[in-house]
Amino acid sequence: MSKTSDTMMRHGKAQRIALTLNGRERSGYCEPRELLSDFIRHELGATGTHVGCEHGVCGACTVQVDGVAARSCLMLAVQADGRHIDTVEGLAPDQTLGDLQQAFQRHHALQCGFCTAGILMSCADYLQRVPDPSEQQVREMLSGHICRCTGYTPIVAAVLDVAARRRAEAGTKEVEHA
Ligand code: FES
Ligand code: FES
Repeated sequence: MSKTSDTMMRHGKAQRIALTLNGRERSGYCEPRELLSDFIRHELGATGTHVGCEHGVCGACTVQVDGVAARSCLMLAVQADGRHIDTVEGLAPDQTLGDLQQAFQRHHALQCGFCTAGILMSCADYLQRVPDPSEQQVREMLSGHICRCTGYTPIVAAVLDVAARRRAEAGTKEVEHA
C-alpha cells in the first residue's frame, strides 16, 4: 500500500477509485479533495505528469481524460473514477519514443523538459482532431502552455513536422491500398 493510501486509510477519509491508466486498469485510494494530478503521481506512481501552478494556468499537468486533453490539477481524482486517463508515459509504452516525441527531439523542442509532458499530451489530442494545422493554429493551441525555456519556435516546428510526416505516411498507405 502506498504512503498516501496508508495515511488516508488511517484517517478514514480514503475512497477507492478505479480507472484505466495508459491502457491498464489501476486503482488506488484518495481523499475526496485530492487532485487528479496528485493521485496520478503519488498514488499511481506516474510521475511523468508534472505539476507547476496548480491552478490551471501553466499546462504542465495536462493529461488526456477519455482522449481529450485536460488539466489534471483542475480535476479531482474522484472525478476520474471509471474514466480512461492517458499520460506521457503512454506515448512510449515500450520505451520507444513515439513520433511526436521524436519530432521534439529532432527540433530541440525542449530544454529543462518541465513543460514537455503536458505539451505532448495537448499536441497528441490536437493532432487527432486537426491533422493539418497552420502555424497560427499550432501557436494558438500552445497558448495554453507556459514554457520558460524554448521560446516556442522549435515546439511549433516539431508539431508541424510530425503533422506533415503523418499526412505523408497516410498518403503512402492510401496509394499502396489503391
Ligand atoms: S499545474 Fe495544472 S495548469 Fe499548472
Ligand atoms: S523546456 Fe523548460 S519550461 Fe519548457
